[in-house]
Amino acid sequence: MSQTYPDPVATTQPSLLATLRTLALPRSARLSRDGVAFARIWPDLATVPGLLISPLQEFWLFQAARALPNTATIVEIGSFKGRSTSALAYGCRGTERHVYALDTFDGNDNDFDTRGFRAEFDANIARGGLTDYVTAVPGRSLETAAHWDRPIDLLFIDGSHDFDDVVADFHGFVRHVRPGGLVAVHDVLPTWEGVDRAWREVIAPELIATGNCATLAYGRVPS
Ligand SMILES: C[S@@+](CC[C@H](N)C(=O)[O-])C[C@H]1O[C@@H](n2cnc3c(N)ncnc32)[C@H](O)[C@@H]1O
Repeated sequence: MSQTYPDPVATTQPSLLATLRTLALPRSARLSRDGVAFARIWPDLATVPGLLISPLQEFWLFQAARALPNTATIVEIGSFKGRSTSALAYGCRGTERHVYALDTFDGNDNDFDTRGFRAEFDANIARGGLTDYVTAVPGRSLETAAHWDRPIDLLFIDGSHDFDDVVADFHGFVRHVRPGGLVAVHDVLPTWEGVDRAWREVIAPELIATGNCATLAYGRVPS
């Protein structure tokens, strides 16, 4: 009887060095401590379905979370199946930082028609070993905003892309963001006219030290 062995190519994760070499990040990022830490998690993170511009924006979220105080609170509006949530949560490992993942987990009626992905979200977070760092908050973001009472260190907005909804998400939560805290908005580009206009006309003018990582725009709440 012949013995069968697992295919080493299919079962072995790429080496850290190989991942670092192939990661499409700026050289300075790849050589940083955060870059090396990111290369360790990237093979797992890359298996989670999501809608970011990869790997740049995952790295931005990971690095932003790692730079927060050890007990920081992160609020994400729009988690989908957990790609951006995981990038943030990997940046919380070994600390008391925590990600609150707000989503209907059922899309919406104007710009997101994927339904019923809560189980997939939970499975992806568990597979990454991130369950202790993530709390899913199911429901419409504005309903959650109505009873939110926790100070926020990083607010990431990627829920409904309708202009009024983005503005309402911003106003519903920015009042809880600590002075100096970060606000980031995804999909700031002309294709998403509602998000683009909300950022330019309402959100950016209320923030300082604004910048962008491709289509992810960010700034800080003035102290
Ligand atoms: C663009 S996706 C988020 C992508 C995710 N950040 C990622 O990295 O893959 C938008 C998400 O927002 C959620 N969503 C849309 N409208 C919402 C609302 N009013 N309240 C809560 N979540 C909402 C959708 O269910 C969807 O999961």
